Amino acid sequence: MTTNPTLSPHLPFGDRQTAPWYGKDILSVKQFSRADLTYIFEVAHEMREMVARVGTFDLLKGKILTNLFYEPSTRTSSSFTAAMERLGGSVIPINEVHFSSVSKGESLPDTVRTLECYADVIVLRHPEVGASAMAAEYARKPVINAGDGIGEHPTQALLDLFTIVEELGEVDGLTVTLLGDLKYGRTVHSLARLLSLYDVRLQYVSPEILRMPEEIVAELEERGVPQAAHTELDTPLPGSDVLYVTRVQKERFTDLDEYESVRGAFIISPETLSGAKERMIVMHPLPRVGEITMEVDADPRAAYFRQMEYGLYVRMALLAMVLGKA
Ligand code: NCD
Repeated sequence: MTTNPTLSPHLPFGDRQTAPWYGKDILSVKQFSRADLTYIFEVAHEMREMVARVGTFDLLKGKILTNLFYEPSTRTSSSFTAAMERLGGSVIPINEVHFSSVSKGESLPDTVRTLECYADVIVLRHPEVGASAMAAEYARKPVINAGDGIGEHPTQALLDLFTIVEELGEVDGLTVTLLGDLKYGRTVHSLARLLSLYDVRLQYVSPEILRMPEEIVAELEERGVPQAAHTELDTPLPGSDVLYVTRVQKERFTDLDEYESVRGAFIISPETLSGAKERMIVMHPLPRVGEITMEVDADPRAAYFRQMEYGLYVRMALLAMVLGKA
């Protein structure tokens, strides 16, 4: 453990334009190698220690972030705000795009080119797949994808993986069960891809109509990841090291009857967990809308609140990296 922040191996207090992630966009988990993840997690770990030790420090003093959210968010937007402010920077929050010129019909490229005049980094959440990549084509400043429709949510997957590393010590050798809405859930799309860099076994549990997209299954198949799909949790649960639960993404359904038919398909309760390993962790990107009962919260295996906190450190690490400070 580093005891003197000035000796910290990853946090130089000066601009490093040659830093590997300086000025880069974060659009998809496909950008990351295993070595990149090790680096990000080392920086995130240092951020965790620095927050515990000093709370706030001026690594990004004078830098400005824009949070540009075209979809609702509690955790992602507020954790990016907290991350920036804990590093001494500041934030332009545009969480209600209907109060901005977007409501006058301004296009995404124009909005992004406006905001980059005032900010050093743009965090974007948008309902369309590929919106962040498109915004990044127009922007000179780094764009961070905070969720593009049913596409990806790379920073969530990074914090999910960091949670696994911090909680279980390693990723290789684990059996990870992804449960719920695997079709529309962008967090599981990103997480499955990221996990494929490790020696893991993936189990998918979902209603028939919410299966993991074929494209992702095929991608992972090619990488040699053992995958199995189930419609019930009974068989896959006892061998699981991680149970990653997701919400059925109501807002993505065109047919609400279809949503009603799968809503509440899986509910994790203390009884469910009686069949799970002692060391398993239960994760959820949140918000939960009934998939995990509140009685589970007292179980030490319930990692979803800790998971949110890990998100702060990962987002601090990413901001420091793309702004040339780590
Ligand atoms: C997720 C999202 O927005 O995709 N939330 C989050 O960022 N933590 C999951 C969800 O909305 O179900």
